[in-house]
Amino acid sequence: MKIIHAKDYSDMSRKAANIISAQVILKPDCVLGLATGSTPIGAYQQLIKWYEKGDVDFEQVSTYNLDEYRGLSHDDPQSYHFFMRDNFFDHINIDLANTHVPDGSNPDAEAACSEYDRMVAAAGYPDLQLLGIGNNGHIGFNEPDDHFSAGTHCVDLTESTIEANSRLFDKAEDVPRQAYTMGTQTIMYARMILIIASGKAKAQAVRDMCYGPVTPTCPASILQLHTNCVVVADEEALSLCPAE
Ligand code: GLP
Repeated sequence: MKIIHAKDYSDMSRKAANIISAQVILKPDCVLGLATGSTPIGAYQQLIKWYEKGDVDFEQVSTYNLDEYRGLSHDDPQSYHFFMRDNFFDHINIDLANTHVPDGSNPDAEAACSEYDRMVAAAGYPDLQLLGIGNNGHIGFNEPDDHFSAGTHCVDLTESTIEANSRLFDKAEDVPRQAYTMGTQTIMYARMILIIASGKAKAQAVRDMCYGPVTPTCPASILQLHTNCVVVADEEALSLCPAE
C-alpha cells in the first residue's frame, strides 16, 4: 500500500482528483469504479472544474458504481443512482449509457446482482477503483463478517452503518436495511485501487486497514494484498497510524 498524506479534506480531494484525471488522460476509454458517500464529493467537484476548463474529457469513459440501496428507485433522491447524477455525471460529458449502478429497484436480488457481475466482468473490471471507507472498515457495503465476500450480493446493513448513513435521511427509520454491493473479490480485480479517507471518525478504520491483520472483520484490510493500492488520507484520518 502506498499512503499519501494530505493536509485536510480539500487537499485529499485534489490529490485524489489528480490521480483519477491522470488515469483518464492515460487511457481515455478507461473503466472507472466509483463510490458514493460524503468523502468523494470534493474529488468529483474538482474533476468537474477540470472538465469545465477542458483539462479532462470523459466522453469515452465508462463507470461502475460499488453499491446501491435495495428498494430505492433510480430517481429517489436518496438513491446512489441519483447521487451520482447530482454530484458528478450531470456535470461532465460522460455518456449516461456508459454509467452503471447496481439496480436497487429490482426486488430480485439474485438477478440484479448476477446481472451486475456479468456487466462488470464483460467490461474487463475497473482500471481504477475509487473507494471510501466506513467507520467500521467496510468498503462498498461489505460489512465486517467472518469471511470475505466474492461477487455482487445483497447485504443486511449493520446498525452502525445505518446510524452513520442516517445523517443523509430525515429519520434513521428511512435508511434502507439492505443494499446490493460489489463483493470484495470484484473490488480486488480492479487494476488500481484509490481509497480516500478524511476526519477523525475514520482514524481507527484507517489504522486497521493499513496496519492491522488482514481479516474480514475489517473488510478494507484485504487491500494490503492488492499490488497497486493507494491510500490518500488527511491528517485526522491518519492520526492513529504510526508516523513513517
Ligand atoms: C457508505 C458507502 C461506502 C462509503 C461509506 C463511507 O456506506 N456504501 O461506499 O465509503 O458509506 O461514507 P462517507 O464517505 O460518507 O463517510
